[in-house]
Amino acid sequence: MPVTAEPSVRPEAAARAPIPFADLDAQRRRLGSRLDAAIARVLAHGRYIMGPEVAELEAQLSAFCSARHAITCASGTDALVLGMMAQGIGPGDAVLMPSFTFVATAEPVAWLGAVPVFVDVLEGTFNLDPASLERGIRTAKAEGLHPRAAIAVDLFGQPADYHAIEAICARHGLWLMADAAQSFGATYRGHHVGRLAPLTATSSCVELSETPVPSMIAVSPDTLVTRMGADALPEVESATRPV
Ligand SMILES: Cc1ncc(COP(=O)(O)O)c(C=O)c1O
Repeated sequence: MPVTAEPSVRPEAAARAPIPFADLDAQRRRLGSRLDAAIARVLAHGRYIMGPEVAELEAQLSAFCSARHAITCASGTDALVLGMMAQGIGPGDAVLMPSFTFVATAEPVAWLGAVPVFVDVLEGTFNLDPASLERGIRTAKAEGLHPRAAIAVDLFGQPADYHAIEAICARHGLWLMADAAQSFGATYRGHHVGRLAPLTATSSCVELSETPVPSMIAVSPDTLVTRMGADALPEVESATRPV
């Protein structure tokens, strides 16, 4: 009599198996051999710091997201602080941001002596609520602060409502910055994250993205890139020299 082998994983058990939050094995299966070859190339030429791969990566990243420049750096936190330093954020300034985000959105504001002002988020997306941004600007002024900038955070891969946020920033003279630590690769109204604001910070935190993304700043205004030169950097020790 023929014997049928039990399948090692029953279909119903497979259906109940948890889906991994970050499946790095899948990434490794798809990209592993190319990553190994790239690492071997760097070991062979030995230019570990600012080697040719850095410029190549930055060129590919800026082309991908249609920003004029991409500057790689050590972390999403560094990307955020470098952007704010380049914009001269400092004591007396208020930087508005959603109350539901990772601590690194607010942390660099405090490092620079400015005040993070938290505004509400939308129920459907958990991203910044534009109506609350208007109220937050009024609150900041009432507290004697100078509202200088707003940070739109793209939570869980979904870009914030840049159209509405940008209009409010323009009306109140606020500089808009994108915290895209969780959204690089996404699009909004046909445009890639990276060109939705004058400056965008991304993170290499592997749990946040399906593809390996370096921490970087995608910048469009040339003036900001110039300001990210040597003069802007020594004040914050953790900041990595970007260019
Ligand atoms: C929304 C958000 N902003 C900023 C960061 C900071 O990125 P990093 O951990 O690379 O400094 C993170 C990281 O989790 C994040 O989720």
